[in-house]
Amino acid sequence: MIFDIKHAFRIVAALTLTIGSLAQAPARAEQNFVQDIAPIVVKNCIACHGERTALGGYRMHTLEAMMRPGASGRSSVAARDAEHSLVYSRMVSTDIDKRMPQGGEKLPPVMINAIRMWINEGAKAPGVDPKVPLVKLMGPRSHPAAPVTYSAPPPLAAVAFSPDGNTIATGGYREVLIWNRATGALVKRAGGLPERIRAIQWLNADQLVIAGGIPGEYGEAAVVSVKAGRRTGVLTTFPDVASSVAVSPDGLRVAAGCADGSVVCTELATAKPLWTSKVHADQITGLAFSANGQFVASTGRDKVVKVYDATDGTLYTTYNGHNRNNGRYRGQAPVFAIAPDGTAGFVTVGGGQWIQTWNPEKAKAETGDAGDMETRFFTQGHTRYAEHGLSGDVFAMAIVGTTAYVAGESGSIQKVNLASDEKSKEVGKQVDWIYGLAASPDGKWLAAVGFKGVLQVIPTDGTTTGTAWVAAPVASSAPKPRTKQK
Ligand code: HEC
Repeated sequence: MIFDIKHAFRIVAALTLTIGSLAQAPARAEQNFVQDIAPIVVKNCIACHGERTALGGYRMHTLEAMMRPGASGRSSVAARDAEHSLVYSRMVSTDIDKRMPQGGEKLPPVMINAIRMWINEGAKAPGVDPKVPLVKLMGPRSHPAAPVTYSAPPPLAAVAFSPDGNTIATGGYREVLIWNRATGALVKRAGGLPERIRAIQWLNADQLVIAGGIPGEYGEAAVVSVKAGRRTGVLTTFPDVASSVAVSPDGLRVAAGCADGSVVCTELATAKPLWTSKVHADQITGLAFSANGQFVASTGRDKVVKVYDATDGTLYTTYNGHNRNNGRYRGQAPVFAIAPDGTAGFVTVGGGQWIQTWNPEKAKAETGDAGDMETRFFTQGHTRYAEHGLSGDVFAMAIVGTTAYVAGESGSIQKVNLASDEKSKEVGKQVDWIYGLAASPDGKWLAAVGFKGVLQVIPTDGTTTGTAWVAAPVASSAPKPRTKQK
């Protein structure tokens, strides 16, 4: 037997070190950047010093950014010298206007000490890619439980019918709520989700995927089991709220869009990332696969729709129809909602008066850098425009065959025939902004949610005005909005 002297020596040395340090102070490992430092920064700093917002000319969303000086030009992080590192000195500043987080409470000593020690230990982050957002390094968050009861109805952004059309999922605060469509009964709650739920898609009778998060701080796309009443997997995380989610027609892949302008496509079964793209100049608002599975398209506040090859995420083309003024089709405006048109194409809507139905291949032929682009776009005339008749921005859309239902700022739900020039017709109304709209798979029902926290269910045949209820368990002492439609 070979006696491993080196190994034995190491054990003794380690023991000696431990005993030695125990004698002076409690044994403590070095600060770990990912576990100890990144969470402090993400929670307390990046809302003002993130990728989008860089107050004081300083960003902290990646390690690389943290290390760069801000507007002052002075060291943000000077390794082994916390006193001369603005990140630390501004946290302990006695000048209340200078102290960070600005305008907030002074952070607890344990956090301030962690930052000081990390810097004084050399500001090390072994194995950390300095360009990767801290939120990504930290991985998925676990979320606190949803409130048992709400003190007031929460604004609602997401709504989706189950595949059999008998239940409706709405996004609550840190949870998804499942409602009986016919009776309005709360059937189930699935909690432990991100604070805000911005999008919901059902995968099957039990599972759904959600997109949500906290603006400027964290986002995720996750799988939720209704039966289990909780999150069962996280597909991807983002450094900003996830605003949209879409499942491929074959059910194998999920694309999620983020307010930071990025799209991530993952394999549903394994959560393996397939591709990532970041080509929008502003927030992504909506996302869809084409019905034939060939394309993924994302709508943006930047007034364009980006079309990606669904297999590898390469940019196929940019649809500019919402970013052009031509003749009566006026209104350069953000795009808020998208749905597949049944073939390779898409239906999109946002600001402006027009729902636009278009095909990526034709859009590609119409776009480009040529000087006559604007003219080409309209003379080719491939886009079909349908007037929706709403005033203000349109945030949500549901498609049944060639009929589009749209709603938004005005609170009115309009039915628009995409195939004819028939005038649009109001089929329902809420007292405030509508953020989410869904149609049942058989096309017989519409569900709308919005700012007031009311879920409204309307038959599409117009026989009744439908029902409406507050889609959250609100404490009985809380002020109640109306629960029935007139
Ligand atoms: C509510 C917004 C807000 C939050 C949260 C915030 N800051 Fe700031 N920060 C500012 C503003 C505004 C400035 C620019 C004015 C100034 O220098 O005081 C600034 C400036 C700074 C600067 C100086 C940059 C330079 O070189 O001029 C540092 C360093 C800094 N912040 C660190 C932090 C740290 C660390 C945190 C988290 C613990 C944090 N900030 C949280 C608003 C914020």
